Amino acid sequence: MASQVQTGIGIDVSALVREGAELTDRALEALIPAAATTPSSIHSAMRHSVFAGGKRLRPVLAIQASIAVHGGVPKGIEDLGAALEMLHTYSLIHDDLPALDNDDLRRGKPTCHVVFGEAIAILAGDALQTQAYEILAGLKCPAASTVEIIRLIAQATGTVDGMIGGQVLDLEGEHQKPTAALVDAIHRAKTGALIRVSVVAGGIFAGANAEQAKALDIFGRKAGLAFQIVDDVLDVTQDSAQLGKTAGKDLTSDKATWPAVFGVEQSLLDADRLIEEAFAALDSFGEHADGLKAVARYLVERKN
Ligand code: IPE
Ligand code: IPE
Ligand code: MG
Ligand code: MG
Ligand code: MG
Repeated sequence: MASQVQTGIGIDVSALVREGAELTDRALEALIPAAATTPSSIHSAMRHSVFAGGKRLRPVLAIQASIAVHGGVPKGIEDLGAALEMLHTYSLIHDDLPALDNDDLRRGKPTCHVVFGEAIAILAGDALQTQAYEILAGLKCPAASTVEIIRLIAQATGTVDGMIGGQVLDLEGEHQKPTAALVDAIHRAKTGALIRVSVVAGGIFAGANAEQAKALDIFGRKAGLAFQIVDDVLDVTQDSAQLGKTAGKDLTSDKATWPAVFGVEQSLLDADRLIEEAFAALDSFGEHADGLKAVARYLVERKN
């Protein structure tokens, strides 16, 4: 499927992802109120979705971007990762609601609204979003970097070229004839923007200068688009047990997807090409970016 890894040879990407996920999980465990905390229903719902078994790829990307800049893992990066994962999980809870994609399986478990009801699921998504910003406000980095990270994340999850805007285009794109321009706009916004900002924020947290932040932005844009192309492909090629979510859903919902426009084979080629192009943006980081490149490669080679 994918071409040979060009860089990062010798890197154990599954170990990188596992270690990043473990770091993130420990932070999330400490940050999200215990299920017993009043009101218990919402804390149980938040924990149900956050700890259902996500891959933690956005925190992992943030960690690897910080290493590209800093040469090692900067202290406190796990709080940034936790906030990104909370925002991502909020987007998933809402994505699965009956009014949006109407899914009952997520991360191998019944979706939040199936277990806790729609009202609590909506509020659990809201709560993950607000708590994410509380955590971001306390990031252990210079105040100017904190403000910049918050601004970029708010933008990336917002309505103009951001996650919410992308979700709107995705919903309004159902039952329309999908075009290349439409799926490009949907994918860059609904998923690409949060992936891109995860990379950029990780870099800024680690002290990236403007030129480094720009390079990470270019990398993140390409990797983010590749990520959603692969999400669409996996929806066609894998089963629900493998995905932990309902396979074949895009076809039954008549979604505007990359394979619907270009076919599965071309989609995989496009994802591969985007990752190769993304690598070029990281030249100036030298071998400190090898982990980031390995994770980007993993984004397109994953099977769930
Ligand atoms: C799935 O994202 C939803 C999209 C944005 C396409 P992931 O594939 O990262 O899902 P988890 O976090 O591992 O469950
Ligand atoms: C979800 O896209 C994007 C966001 C949650 C913002 P999808 O609808 O394709 O994600 P899955 O396939 O349900 O995970
Ligand atoms: Mg959706
Ligand atoms: Mg969905
Ligand atoms: Mg999908």
